[in-house]
Amino acid sequence: MPTMAILASSCRVFLLLAALTVGLVSGLTIQNDDPRIHYHGRWDDSPGTWWAGSGLKLHVQNAKTMKIRLGSLTTSPFAALGVSVNYEPFFTVNASVGWNDIPLPAAPRFKRSDKSVIRLNVEGWQNNRINLETIVLNRGAQLLPYKPSKLSFQFIGDSLSAGQYLPLGVDQAWPFLVGENFKAEHTINAQPGATLTDIPSYGNVHGVSFQFFKTEDTGYVWTSDHNYTTPWDFRRDRPSPTHVVIHIGANDVSQGVTPDQFVQEYLDFLKRLRTIYRTQSIFVFTPWGWPSADGNVWYYYDGKYEEIVRKQTALGDSRIFLVNTTGWVTFDDVFADNQHPNVPGHVKIANLFSEWLKDWGLRPERQWATLA
Ligand SMILES: *[C@@H]1O[C@H](CO)[C@@H](O)[C@H](O)[C@H]1NC(C)=O
Ligand SMILES: *[C@@H]1O[C@H](CO)[C@@H](O)[C@H](O)[C@H]1NC(C)=O
Ligand SMILES: *[C@@H]1O[C@H](CO)[C@@H](O)[C@H](O)[C@H]1NC(C)=O
Repeated sequence: MPTMAILASSCRVFLLLAALTVGLVSGLTIQNDDPRIHYHGRWDDSPGTWWAGSGLKLHVQNAKTMKIRLGSLTTSPFAALGVSVNYEPFFTVNASVGWNDIPLPAAPRFKRSDKSVIRLNVEGWQNNRINLETIVLNRGAQLLPYKPSKLSFQFIGDSLSAGQYLPLGVDQAWPFLVGENFKAEHTINAQPGATLTDIPSYGNVHGVSFQFFKTEDTGYVWTSDHNYTTPWDFRRDRPSPTHVVIHIGANDVSQGVTPDQFVQEYLDFLKRLRTIYRTQSIFVFTPWGWPSADGNVWYYYDGKYEEIVRKQTALGDSRIFLVNTTGWVTFDDVFADNQHPNVPGHVKIANLFSEWLKDWGLRPERQWATLA
């Protein structure tokens, strides 16, 4: 046989072997129950997300490509995911049932190391269900344990905290940004349109005083595959929150909950929260109000938030604090048509509250706990 033919045929054998190898070992497959995945927020058993901001963190080495496979309970046609590598700004990936490529941009801040942190969460207060099956990284990548921050915020609220109307949803909302400012873990249970009081309000069948204790956000009632709630097991919040922040009441007042009823509802809610968060500091926001074009700001439940904090303190609770947000938000800081904070408005609120917390005595972590 002429030399050229031998070369060509051994070349074909080599290519065939290479193709087989690539086909069999396509990368590092991570199952959804791998304990090195750091889940945060509210996941059901499928496992699937509820509530804006729920997601996961991965600490990886030598990761270059990433794919995730989502199951049939994922929002159709897609759920918007916020993705960030090495604490760089979040960008959106619309993820659907089946395989999804998650781009991993080169992360300049850590280029001397081949380790990185990938953060991924659902951005929307609705259409926010991802049903995670598997994650596949490139061959040669390794999954490492993720170490959470010592600081961990739990935020509770309505549309004003959920990132409604923002291009990147909750990832641009003030609670998320406060968490980032402090290099903290953060979970946000905020339901647009919802009252604190457990009454129907703007499409919600329950108030936050009910829903907060459930795995599912109020979107469950619009689904046929999961039209029920399950109790949230607060031991699954890891780490347990160190600081709890509540900004609520706008929808109670528009549903006609009287000021005195509201105070009682709030005190009952705090009593129940204290069975979970026994020693954590709890921060009660006064409303920043609804600003109008003429410069006026409409405030509601005047004096009532002060009363809530005073009464809770009188019950012997020494870790409850009023955050007076009067004057924080002007017409320039909101969308003109719905008076919800716009993108710079959320940054402003986050920075004002971060300064407030620093004055109160909370120091931001100097570095993120993973990749310190
Ligand atoms: C995600 O989908 C929305 C709605 O179709 C679209 O406006 C947006 O550009 C998409 N984003 C990306 C990153 O594909
Ligand atoms: C979910 O159940 C409620 C009654 O419990 C019903 O009113 C609603 O229509 C159901 N939703 C769907 C999408 O089936
Ligand atoms: C909240 O701040 C406003 C504006 O600075 C002030 O007028 C008001 O008295 C403050 N309320 C409380 C309870 O401190």
